[in-house]
Amino acid sequence: MRKLSNNNEEIRHEYRLLLNKAKKKGRLSREELSLLLKPQNIVEEDALFSAADSRRKEAVGDAVHLRALIEFSNFCRCNCLYCGLRRKNDKAARYRMTGDEIVDIAHEAVKLGYRTVVLQSGEDPWYTGARVSAIIRRIKAISDVTVTLSLGERTFEELRDWREAGADRYLLRHETANPLLYAKLNPQRKLSTRLKTLEHLRQLGYQVGAGFMVGLPDQKVEDLAEDLLLLQNLDVEMAGIGPFIPHPQTPLGDKKQGTLSLTLRALAAARLLIPCAHLPATTAIRSIDPQGWLKALKAGANVLMLNLTPPVHREKYKIYPDKYSTGGTPASVRQSITELIHSLGRTVAEDRGDSPKPQFQRSECPL
Ligand code: 5AD
Ligand code: SF4
Repeated sequence: MRKLSNNNEEIRHEYRLLLNKAKKKGRLSREELSLLLKPQNIVEEDALFSAADSRRKEAVGDAVHLRALIEFSNFCRCNCLYCGLRRKNDKAARYRMTGDEIVDIAHEAVKLGYRTVVLQSGEDPWYTGARVSAIIRRIKAISDVTVTLSLGERTFEELRDWREAGADRYLLRHETANPLLYAKLNPQRKLSTRLKTLEHLRQLGYQVGAGFMVGLPDQKVEDLAEDLLLLQNLDVEMAGIGPFIPHPQTPLGDKKQGTLSLTLRALAAARLLIPCAHLPATTAIRSIDPQGWLKALKAGANVLMLNLTPPVHREKYKIYPDKYSTGGTPASVRQSITELIHSLGRTVAEDRGDSPKPQFQRSECPL
């Protein structure tokens, strides 16, 4: 008994030292990061979350940024083993929204006070470079609204044209920084190509978002440490982190789900390593725990992406089962989320919510 408590004391002490180093320097080695994330160090989990929460406050403040998410097509040419939208899932009912439908929702979002519209889809070549450019131009003409794209790996020319059409940000999760795991989970794809595309986005002047899943089959804590170091090396403006959730219509349907605890630890560690980044409390976190958004907002997150996709389509955007969906109208959702944010003593951001790092000058976070 005594030995156990000594052990605990020792773990506690080492963990605190590590946390202090992370807080002060914002840099840790792969080994140190792994220790920070390891489940046996759970005794100090709350210390990690509160360190991330105060770092969040210092770096990006109390305002929570709300983004309007439009999932406009669930067609996908890829076959990611984890995803319900994979091309080979012939049980998935597919849909595409028209340009008019998309622009109408963007209008509604702006009227409700959203300053950012996120256009997301599977990798769907039906939306050619020109079609997407036209949609971006129409949305940018509405008012001073920011457009974030999340359309997968596209050619340099397409990404360039969309930037010229007015797109401001691009989300492209790296999924996992372990190249072998990446190759196993993403047939016909390579991590190096993914990183090249992220580099293209950077060259083109986008605010860049990457991110990863937690609890993928065969993923080690050391892999998560690499994921975090990659975010730091890429100097991303945004990062999406969520648990892996097995989808029965995929080859990984019988694998274990990622845990909330490890996901929140990865999120908190991200806040310490990239303090000025926008970090959403992701839908996947909310999908595995009804308190998920609250917990994430208290462990480093400062963004919520609210789904404005019409319900008929939304229920078909099934990346994983039991994906959380806000009930009610877009107006009532915004209202109840605002109340949730106020209940935390936080505010809803009124600005565009650009990265606090001046664009084109990387690593300009004042901290
Ligand atoms: N569980 C959790 N997240 C998933 N994604 C895809 N499939 C799953 C799953 N089964 C994530 C990927 C992708 C994003 C659109 O959703 O990280 O980039
Ligand atoms: Fe397509 Fe994205 Fe799903 Fe992969 S994760 S199958 S790219 S929608």
